[in-house]
Amino acid sequence: MASSPSYLIHTFGCQMNAHDSDRMEEVLRANGWSQATSGEEADLIVLNTCSVREKAEQKLRSEVGKLAPLKAKNPGLVLAVAGCVAQQEGEKLLSRVSHLDLVIGPDNIVELPALALEQMAGAPPRTRTVFDLDAPRFLAAAPREGEAPVSAYVTTMKGCDERCSFCIVPYTRGPERYRPSDEIIAEIGRWVSAGTREITLLGQTVDSFRDPALPPPASDDPDESQFPMLLRRIASEVPGLLRLRYTSPHPRHATVALARAHAEVEILAHHVHLPVQSGSDRILKRMIRRYNRAEYTERARRLLAAQPDMTMSTDIIVGFPGETDADFEATLELVRDVGFTGAFAFKYSQRPFTPALKLPDDVAESLKSERLARLFEVVEGQTREHLAKLVGTTQRVLVEGTSKAGAKEGRAFVEGRTVRNEIVHIEQPEGRVAVGEMVEVEITRAYKHSLFGGVTASALEALPRPNERRVAPDKRRHKLPLLGTA
Ligand code: 5AD
Repeated sequence: MASSPSYLIHTFGCQMNAHDSDRMEEVLRANGWSQATSGEEADLIVLNTCSVREKAEQKLRSEVGKLAPLKAKNPGLVLAVAGCVAQQEGEKLLSRVSHLDLVIGPDNIVELPALALEQMAGAPPRTRTVFDLDAPRFLAAAPREGEAPVSAYVTTMKGCDERCSFCIVPYTRGPERYRPSDEIIAEIGRWVSAGTREITLLGQTVDSFRDPALPPPASDDPDESQFPMLLRRIASEVPGLLRLRYTSPHPRHATVALARAHAEVEILAHHVHLPVQSGSDRILKRMIRRYNRAEYTERARRLLAAQPDMTMSTDIIVGFPGETDADFEATLELVRDVGFTGAFAFKYSQRPFTPALKLPDDVAESLKSERLARLFEVVEGQTREHLAKLVGTTQRVLVEGTSKAGAKEGRAFVEGRTVRNEIVHIEQPEGRVAVGEMVEVEITRAYKHSLFGGVTASALEALPRPNERRVAPDKRRHKLPLLGTA
């Protein structure tokens, strides 16, 4: 073993998992661990897993399998599975995977360094998957100046009180728990002081937020969520923040107050990712989404009306049990009707512990594939149309890093995002556009999933010369390609 123990973390799945991995790194570092340069050298390897869809879970199994030879060569290596598969399977994982040492749930991250040391000292394999229900813990990020990404995630709530019949998340992440607003705002303040310009608030149903420090809302409160209030507080109390996003809201809490916040809070993105899952009332009911198509459409339209250039993306499941051609056509119709400019779409897969297990998975795999392809075609068409309309306009782009585009021709590009969320590649004028800068860009071309443009003459005039500024970090954390399909 080296003088300080070393770790490697492999992350699968959603932004919440990426966020959890960052917190694991922080607690390990705070306890004297350092990052290993290779698996051979590591004392601890963590697979931070996802189980939201069957495919994601299969991936974990193959990754764990791949680590068996490494463990055989180095029996002192501690192999840990964290995240949703860990929470879901617990003990069972240990009995099924003989070379596994540690199974650790999302609420037990702080215990990771101690548990890993125990394993290194020869303790028997261990499972820790206990929800922190009585005293919810939100590990605060410790951003370091000069290393902070342009865009960072901040957790505002965790868990989910919905009971969507297809979804394993309430089981793997537990009931909803909220973080006090003061804590959220303090963390955002630290990010911004360290150089971050954009924050994405993170939660399984991010818009159901209630401040645990405030009295519970009256039951007849038409807007029981205090989420819009949180958005307003962040905007007024963290003046250096340039942009604010959130993911993922549940349509039930997409209230009038939320739409009003989008109209009035200047730093709020002109984009919302609002998962709909299906456009058929029959299927929505079977999914236990607790809204119908008309209600979703009304909420979506209200948000879209908050800004003249507001866009919306969504999540859709195709081939849910009992989905007929007519149900699927209703979904396509809704996609056209709302005019989503992006969608993540998935084939339904049965998940353990979910209510939909009672329903036979009766849509043929080939039909699911066909529907997925048709859905992508519609969404891609809308994305293309939307991007084409932006050619000739001027957009404010928050620069997030250098871009690989143009490298072949020996040209230097940077890339960033618009207030909605389109990716823009920008020709770098004499190295003058720094990461973290908000620049005005004239859009000259539209690609399939991104845009291209040049800094406007007046914006260029205002930029400092390269030797007049400190070098900003080129670090991106954005895993939210809200444009296009995934
Ligand atoms: N099958 C397919 N897709 C699913 N999702 C969640 N559960 C399932 C499932 N059992 C999708 C939903 C959700 C996204 C994160 O994953 O669209 O919004």
